[in-house]
Amino acid sequence: AQTRVTVIPGDGIGPDIVKATLRLLDALECDFAYDEAIAGQTALDQGLDLVPQETLDMIEKNTVALKGPITTPVGKGFRSVNVTLRKHFDLFANLRPALSIPGVRSRYDNVDILTIRENIEGIYSGEGQMVSDDGERAELRSVITRKESKRLMRFAYEAAQRLGRRKVTVVHKANIMKSTSGLFLSVARSVAEEYPNIEHEEMIVDNCAMQLAMNPHRFDVIVTTNLFGDILSDLCAGLTGGLGLAPGANIGEHRGIFEAVHGSAPDIAGKGVANPTALMLGAGMMLEYLEMNEKAGRLRTAIRHVVGEGKVVTPDLGGNASTDEFTDELIKHL
Ligand code: NAI
Ligand code: MG
Repeated sequence: AQTRVTVIPGDGIGPDIVKATLRLLDALECDFAYDEAIAGQTALDQGLDLVPQETLDMIEKNTVALKGPITTPVGKGFRSVNVTLRKHFDLFANLRPALSIPGVRSRYDNVDILTIRENIEGIYSGEGQMVSDDGERAELRSVITRKESKRLMRFAYEAAQRLGRRKVTVVHKANIMKSTSGLFLSVARSVAEEYPNIEHEEMIVDNCAMQLAMNPHRFDVIVTTNLFGDILSDLCAGLTGGLGLAPGANIGEHRGIFEAVHGSAPDIAGKGVANPTALMLGAGMMLEYLEMNEKAGRLRTAIRHVVGEGKVVTPDLGGNASTDEFTDELIKHL
């Protein structure tokens, strides 16, 4: 049967880069049927909830979703759309590959780091969020469970094995956050023992940030808790050419939501110059999730060629092509 993909155009540059990505998927003859769903500012503007029930139902029904970046209004008591979706669908692992593209100007060449970020616990679980009545004191709880940590570590080691990776670096702050980070680390150690052929390494997060900036080639797979993973994966994206090239996949037992790491970029929204590459690479991860590896390979090869050549690229990569011109060029190279 035809695969149905839920598509959330998102806010800001979202609709433009989603449209470009669907054009590329269609040019690859993926034969998907798309169901459009809305969330974020777009939903609020239509008088709906931030994440409307229909959107949840649609993601529930189709197993995969492609999501444009979403603006969550700040300081109005809204919980982030992304956090809501991740929790609701139990998308416990967030895969964020950072892979250099030869030809792209960046600080280092040949970086290839896969960050696997715990996606539903930690300080982003949103529990115990409170400001005292007098506004003088704020609180937020971090929760780590053995069950989630184990599920994430197993997922990470299985992914490392499947992808032929040699080393997993567990990033933590167990010296200070002895309870939460300590539990995460101890679970990591015991799961690592089940995978003797993959090197297990432990690193404290602040040192990890420094090592990433100084010597990114020493890293292979990084596994860490929610907040650290959020920050370190942006750092990794910065090492390989920036947010315009960084995809992310939110994976659960039965569902996947694929996206770009970057946000809705309000500063360039509506100008037709957003770089759709990150979302396109996210779509490539979706193709792999659906075991359409040949198409995923063609997508990636075309991107590496056109982006690496640097002639027809968007302004963030030093070119002057529009989103659509860049997409046309990719389609020529499929
Ligand atoms: P941002 O990622 O939207 O933008 C940061 C900078 O990178 C801006 O200068 C922007 O122009 C540039 N940029 C980002 N993506 C680009 C692309 N594809 N092509 C060219 N340039 C690009 O981060 P910011 O400004 O902090 O957040 C804006 C909004 O996005 C906020 O409402 C935030 O909540 C939301 N956001 C949503 C995310 C999601 O839905 N996954 C993730 C991060 C932020
Ligand atoms: Mg982030």
